[in-house]
Amino acid sequence: VKERLTALSSRYTLALRDYLVDGGEATLLEAYELGRTALGLKLGILEVAALHQEALVSALKLAAPPEGEKLAKRAAEFFVEAVAPHEMSRRGELEAKSVLSEIVRKLEEKVRTTQEELDERARIERLKDEFVSVVSHEFRTPLTSIQGSLGLLRCGVGGGELSPKARRLLDLAQRNVDRLVRLVNDILDLQRLASDGFVFDLAPATIGALLDQAMDANLAYAAQVGVALALGDVPRGARVRVDPDRFLQVMANLTSNAVKHSAPGEAVTIDAGCRDGFVRVNVSDRGPGIPAEFRHRIFQRFAQAEPSLDHGRRGSGLGLSIAKAIVERLEGRIGFEDREAGGTTFFFELPQWEGECPEPPSPGGRP
Ligand SMILES: Nc1ncnc2c1ncn2[C@@H]1O[C@H](COP(=O)(O)OP(=O)(O)O)[C@@H](O)[C@H]1O
Ligand SMILES: [Mg+2]
Repeated sequence: VKERLTALSSRYTLALRDYLVDGGEATLLEAYELGRTALGLKLGILEVAALHQEALVSALKLAAPPEGEKLAKRAAEFFVEAVAPHEMSRRGELEAKSVLSEIVRKLEEKVRTTQEELDERARIERLKDEFVSVVSHEFRTPLTSIQGSLGLLRCGVGGGELSPKARRLLDLAQRNVDRLVRLVNDILDLQRLASDGFVFDLAPATIGALLDQAMDANLAYAAQVGVALALGDVPRGARVRVDPDRFLQVMANLTSNAVKHSAPGEAVTIDAGCRDGFVRVNVSDRGPGIPAEFRHRIFQRFAQAEPSLDHGRRGSGLGLSIAKAIVERLEGRIGFEDREAGGTTFFFELPQWEGECPEPPSPGGRP
């Protein structure tokens, strides 16, 4: 460094002498270069000034420069050029700082507005949920009343004989009001599940007893559409800790889906097994299967594939999302797979509650 400083100092002296004597652009360029070298050696402006003073003294000894005003002017011009790199780098630094602080300011602004937007979106989402839940709630009572009245009318409580046409219209109205009631109940269930407002009444129960109840609850609908419902192998004594009503709700969803997608004369089978501390329940059909392009969103709300055989009982597309929410609240998981010879198996697994899995699984049906 010391050597380079000495070199710089003697180059400076020579260049300054040339400029004092002859002036000229080329020498000013050299002054600028010397300034850059000084900057590279980490000299400050004051040190360059000192260097300049020394060089000026030496230069005046070396040559006979012009006198007076011209001399002072040239010395000053040379100095200004020599410190130009310092000036520029300082200005660059200032500029960089102001650009940086502008970027930081904009970023902060962006973060703030994004947060505000997120808050606003969450608020709207909440409002929407509340709205849907209030509306559904308000619908339920009058709908139930309409449902009851229609039922009574169809039973002839209105007095007199019903014409075939009136009966057909009443049947149609009944089917539609049933559907609306199901939809409203589904929406309310989903709402409560999503908001954790659903209190589960948890108690250990054997899978045998639970699946017997599920069979009882769903046999009528299956029979009505000519689909057989069969209980296969079940480890009857294996226990799970569930809210029985919610368990039956999951079973009703999966079973009605399987029945809906079965042709008359086909069978839907329910069975169960134990694996790795979980009890797994399967609901299997021989239906058309789940279309490939629909599989990834089958558990989403309101998701329905192309209408298929639904035996006049159109659903809302909410059943599977409700089933998934319930199973997950019970710390289990739900899924489906294709069956080898065609059809689909929907299954869910729940943690086994104490005790071993009774092996081998005893055949289904009541003991
Ligand atoms: N066992 C099944 N076989 C074929 N498709 C099914 C089966 N279960 C469900 N699906 C498809 O998944 C969709 C969503 O089911 P779900 O959420 O229960 O709604 P919903 O029964 O009201 O239509 C159904 O509309 C149907 O397209
Ligand atoms: Mg369904």
